[in-house]
Amino acid sequence: MNLVTGATGLNGKAIMREFARQGHEVRALVRDADRASVAGLDGLAGVELVAGDMRRADTLGAALDGIERVLMISTAADDMTETQCRFIDACRQAGVAHVVKFSGAESNIGYDATKFRFTRMHEEVERYLEAAGMAWTHLRPSQFMQVYLRDAPTIAAEGAFYLALGETELSPVDVEDIAKVAFRLLRDGGHAGESLDMTGPQALTMSDIAALMSRAIGKPVRYVDITPAQRRRNLLASGVPADFVDALDEQLAERLRRPKSRVHLATHDMFGVRPTPFVEFARRHAAMFRGEG
Ligand SMILES: NC(=O)c1ccc[n+]([C@@H]2O[C@H](COP(=O)([O-])OP(=O)(O)OC[C@H]3O[C@@H](n4cnc5c(N)ncnc54)[C@H](OP(=O)(O)O)[C@@H]3O)[C@@H](O)[C@H]2O)c1
Repeated sequence: MNLVTGATGLNGKAIMREFARQGHEVRALVRDADRASVAGLDGLAGVELVAGDMRRADTLGAALDGIERVLMISTAADDMTETQCRFIDACRQAGVAHVVKFSGAESNIGYDATKFRFTRMHEEVERYLEAAGMAWTHLRPSQFMQVYLRDAPTIAAEGAFYLALGETELSPVDVEDIAKVAFRLLRDGGHAGESLDMTGPQALTMSDIAALMSRAIGKPVRYVDITPAQRRRNLLASGVPADFVDALDEQLAERLRRPKSRVHLATHDMFGVRPTPFVEFARRHAAMFRGEG
């Protein structure tokens, strides 16, 4: 049996849906039964929900019992390193054979991972896992396409989205592609000692993204370039916590220094997953970008 943590989150939900679609059983770690229900996990065939907290080994006995492989996902927050390292300790104690770390790698060429706290934390956890004595694999997606769903309200209301990326390119990847890779990796095993980077199929400036959105939703979408300070004010005004805004500022500064983005599809190819182009992602969410749902 395999276990996925972070099952109520963006990627966890997509991975659970993929297991259900494929008719394959999986165990999902959840902290809160209500959140699992809101996430739609309790209705999914073959998904066994087990309660536990990744930071507390004493709550993980039932979740880790009989588990061969684990996909470890948790929130990008200041406690991510501590949460994941304590969970790795619990996996080792429970006799788990293989831990797949859901990590992250920026796609910008020359990006210094130490300049952004979350890529820095991912690197720390990767080193910790490598030394823990179990088989390991790092799954390292770049920016998720789903990040642009945050801009759906202004796109629907004004036909515009506001970021401070100038002409910087990014190569966002569809969470549905990541879910397919994660499913196959957990089902089949292997790939121990490998780091699997994943980007989407195109390096895109924000103007490119606006053009693709316009085409997908059938109405004009503009990219409006604002200053980093304006973006910071917008994020704070929309209720994003200050420490998370600080992290996003670090990421933005390094992205602006490294404006070219690479495309890396070796992981898609290895697992036989077709890379979803941005226009297809936008078409799938067209109702939301048009403000219809
Ligand atoms: N944003 C990007 O573009 C991007 C790109 C590459 C990589 N990443 C990485 O992706 C990861 C986040 O993935 P996501 O967006 O799919 O997750 P998410 O939507 O933020 O959800 C996080 C999940 O972790 C669970 N969790 C957190 N702490 C826990 C604990 N102590 N015990 C049990 N469960 C716990 C949460 O459970 P609850 O529901 O109980 O809170 C939730 O299910 C981060 O590591 C981030 O750095 C992000």
